[in-house]
Parts: sequence; structure tokens; C-alpha cells
Amino acid sequence: MLSDAQAQHGARVQEYLAEQVAAAGGWLSFERFMDLALYAPGLGYYSAGAHKLGAGGDFTTAPEVSSLFGACVARQCAEVLTLFPAGTILEIGAGSGRLAADILARLETLGQLPARYAILEISADLRQRQRRYLAQRLPHLIERVHWLDRPPDEPFDGVILANEVLDALPVTRFRWQGERIEELGVVLGPVGDAGGGRFAWESRPAGAAVTAACRQLAVAGRAWDEGYVSEYCPRLAAWTMSVTRCLRAGAVLWFDYGLPRAQYYLLERHEGTLLCHFRQRAHGDPLLYPGLQDITAWVDFTALAEASRSAGYELAGFTTQAFFLAGLRIDEEIQTAAGDDTNQFARLANQARQLMMPGEMGERFKVMAWLRDAPCELSGFALQDLRHTL
Ligand SMILES: C[S@@+](CC[C@H](N)C(=O)[O-])C[C@H]1O[C@@H](n2cnc3c(N)ncnc32)[C@H](O)[C@@H]1O
Repeated sequence: MLSDAQAQHGARVQEYLAEQVAAAGGWLSFERFMDLALYAPGLGYYSAGAHKLGAGGDFTTAPEVSSLFGACVARQCAEVLTLFPAGTILEIGAGSGRLAADILARLETLGQLPARYAILEISADLRQRQRRYLAQRLPHLIERVHWLDRPPDEPFDGVILANEVLDALPVTRFRWQGERIEELGVVLGPVGDAGGGRFAWESRPAGAAVTAACRQLAVAGRAWDEGYVSEYCPRLAAWTMSVTRCLRAGAVLWFDYGLPRAQYYLLERHEGTLLCHFRQRAHGDPLLYPGLQDITAWVDFTALAEASRSAGYELAGFTTQAFFLAGLRIDEEIQTAAGDDTNQFARLANQARQLMMPGEMGERFKVMAWLRDAPCELSGFALQDLRHTL
């Protein structure tokens, strides 16, 4: 059941999207629909503060599962910050602020605090939540934390990182019909309740740009059957370049669920990878609950590797979350955090299992590193490096 406030917000977003469909001549590309449903000022899921993370919210991310995640990321950052003792960390999309707090807390004990921790956050609501959380947990470090609404103009050295942000970049949805390629878009259906039901899918012959992009992807997917539906992210390269341009020297760490292209576009994944989250329920219908639910697509890590080159970075590593955490000695982190407390040890070991579970978070989530002018070891990729699969 939706609360009254949710139902009203949902109805407002529906109304707005319906106007946008009408203004576009009755058919809106899915990419535009996803963009507006997530980011329309004052209305979208990420811009209007409707979303919640953690238990009781819409979804749970690795930092919400355990502070071990942030502790290991901190160890990875420390290897880079050794080169840049007055460096900066820029986190994109910081959610509840837990990852930032876990990273800062662990870097403090390692004696490697960055001079500045910047957060680029699109949601005003989450920005406030992050500020409250960090001020309460690390009051003595809050001076180092700065919030940004666009990438910094001043170049800096250090680390840029983002957990589960790329999956929200709007994607183009297509259907393969042999010689003919179609783009999927959204039209108005019958008037529904606040949960949706008002929008329906409709395909159109794809334009030249979408057709060319799909023909290239088809090579990776080899022979798709007629009716094969999938998606790609046309703005991945431009967006990643825009948010990483400010790094003069250092590392970029991307964490997200996804696959190398050859596995992403396999024949059996014939309905694509769209995944929506509404109150801890994952489902595949992005037309429901507009403005009230998260809409995501898996990341094509081959495209992200290609983007590293256009952004002027060296592709420095690619692995699963499980191997990344193991390479950064999550076992030692458990021991350090638990000390002699056997109950705490058992709790943390359980959390580590959740983060590293094969077939679940440990494998579905990948980590990619880009480097620029930073000759450093990245232990997160020392145990397993899957760059050859890209
Ligand atoms: C799925 S949450 C992940 C939060 C956090 N990184 C974590 O792991 O718990 C996505 C976060 O990215 C933010 N976000 C989404 N798109 C963004 C964008 N284009 N620029 C900056 N932040 C964005 C959201 O507001 C939210 O804080």
C-alpha cells in the first residue's frame, strides 16, 4: 500500500510524464522516460527525495550491508593516496553517507586521511541525510567533507569512486527484428492508479544512430533471435568523461552490477537487464510506480573500458566484488574490527559472506579501476584481473 504522500507524488509524476509523452507526439523514447522518471527536477526518483536505502527502504547496497565494504575501499584508496598525501576523494552518489563515513573512519586509523572528501550528489534530500549522518558519526572530520552539485572545476589528485550510480544512467531499449531494428518507447495507456498502469510500450523503427549502435552490439551477441530485447547506455562515455575530467592524477573506481559485453548480450538474456526496486522488491517493469521506484540497467563493462580510453585513462583493473574485497584483505579487516569479541567476529564474517557470495553480490557486482599518471599498486585486482574478458 502506498502512503497518501506517496500516492500523491506518484500521481504528480504520472501526470507530468503523460504530458511529456503527449508533447513528444504520443511516443517518448524509453531513454527519455527513464531520464525523467529518475531525474525530472522536483519529481524524479533521485531528484525528489522519494527513495530510501537500507533495510525498510527500496534497496540495499554493499555499504548498507557492512562497513567492511568501506574499510576495504579505504585500503584501496590508501594505496593511491600514498602518492598524493594532500589528495582528495570525490564520491559520486553517496546514498545515506555510510560509505563516505566508513572510508573516512578507516583512513583515519590508517593515518591516511585525504585533505578533502567531496560528494557529488544529485538528490537534495540525500545530501541533507549524508550531512546529518557524517556530522553525527564523525563530527571531527565534517570540515573535510564538501558537497557539490556538479563536478569540480579545479583539477585535483586522488580518487574518484561511485557505487551503484552508473546503473541509473538512462538506457535506450531496442528490439532486434532481423533486418529491422526497433526502438522501444512509451505511450499512454488507460488511466491507472498511482502505481502506474497508465503507460504502455510501443516500438518504432529505430533511427540511424540506434540502428548503428545495435548492429555493433549484435556482433558481440552473435546471432540474436527475432524479438530479442535489450538496451545500451548511449551517454555512458560522455557522462563518465564529464565526471572524471577533474582528476589530474589518481584512480577512478567504479562499482556496479554488470558484465563484459560478450556475456551481457547473450542469446538467453533476451528480455534485457532492466531491474526496478520498490521497497526491497526487485522486478522488471519500469513503467510502474513512476517517480517512486528505482530503475536500473546492468552496466556493459566493455563500454566502460572503452570510455576509459576516451576519457584519457589507462584501464588498470577489472574484477568481481568478491575478489576485490579478498585482495584488500577483508579477513584482516574482520579481525581488526572484531578484536577479541567472538560475537562481533561472527556477525562480521556473516556480512562478509553476504558481500562475497558467488552468484549474488560477490559475483554480480564488478569493480573497474582507471588510472591517470598514478603508478601505484591496486591490491583489489591482485588476486583476479578479468580485463582479458572485456
Ligand atoms: C543506488 S544509490 C547508491 C548510493 C551509495 N553509493 C551506496 O552504495 O549506498 C545511487 C546514488 O547516486 C545518486 N545519483 C544518481 N544519479 C546521479 C548522478 N547523475 N549524479 C550524482 N549522483 C547521482 C543518488 O541520489 C544516490 O545517492
